[in-house]
Amino acid sequence: MNCYSHVSMNPERWSQVDRYIKDQIVPHDPIFDAVLTASQEAGLPSIQVSSAQGKLLQILAQTQGASRILEIGTLGGYSTLWMAKALPQWGRLITLEIDPSHAATARANFKRAGVESVVELIEGPALETLPRLEIEGFGPFDLIFIDADKPGNPDYFSWALRLSCKGSLIIVDNVIRNGDVLDEKGADAKVQGVRKLFEMISREPRVNATAIQTVGEKGYDGFILAWVKS
Ligand code: SAH
Ligand code: DHB
Ligand code: MG
Repeated sequence: MNCYSHVSMNPERWSQVDRYIKDQIVPHDPIFDAVLTASQEAGLPSIQVSSAQGKLLQILAQTQGASRILEIGTLGGYSTLWMAKALPQWGRLITLEIDPSHAATARANFKRAGVESVVELIEGPALETLPRLEIEGFGPFDLIFIDADKPGNPDYFSWALRLSCKGSLIIVDNVIRNGDVLDEKGADAKVQGVRKLFEMISREPRVNATAIQTVGEKGYDGFILAWVKS
C-alpha cells in the first residue's frame, strides 16, 4: 500500500473530521445555518470559511480583545458574523465587498443575525474603499482579515499595515491553494499574488509572521498570521 491511498490522505476523511470537530466543540447556532442557506439561495459560491475556521477567527478576535475589525472580502458575511460575535457592544467591524449582489445578501444576513449595528459593509473595489477608510480616520484595527481576490493580496497587505498599530493581527486566507503556492513559474494570478505576498513578508521587519497549512471540508489550503510588532 502506498501512503497516498491511505484513508488519512482522503479529502472525504478531512470533511468527516471537520464534521466531528463541529459536532463536538463548535456549538450549534441556527443563525449560522440561516446565513449559509440564504447565501446559497442567492447563488453565492460556497467559498466561505468552514465553521471550525470561523470559530478560529472568533477566538483570535477574542484573544486580541478586538473592538475594531476590518475584513476585506465579505461574500455573504459568514466569516464576518463569526468575528462580529466576538465584539463588545461598542465595537465595530468594517467589511469591504466589490460585488453588489454579494453585498446585498450580506446586508440581509447581518440584519437576520442582529449584528447590523456593529457591522458596516462598504461596497466597492477594496483598492478604492481602503484609501477612503484612511482619509475618514478609521483604524487602527485590532484584527484584519484579508480574504478577497488573491492577486490583490500584496496591495491589501500594505493597506493592512497602514491601518494597523503595534499589536494588530493580520490574517490572510487561502495562501496554500492545494500546494500550488510552490509553483514558481505558474500562470495562475492567484498563486502569483500569494507568492508575492510571502516575498513581501519575508522582507517586512514590522511583522512577526507564519503560515499554517490546513485540511478540512474546504480541501487543502492555509492561512498567514502576521502580528504587527512595531
Ligand atoms: N470572507 C468570506 C469569503 C470571501 S470570498 C467568508 O469566509 O465568509 C471573496 C470575496 O471577495 C467575494 O465576495 C468577492 O466578490 C470579493 N472581492 C473580490 N475582489 C474584490 C475587491 N477588489 N474588493 C472587494 N472585494 C472583492
Ligand atoms: C477562493 C476564495 C476564497 O476566499 C476561498 O476561501 C476559497 C477560494 C477563490 O477565489 O478561489
Ligand atoms: Mg477565503
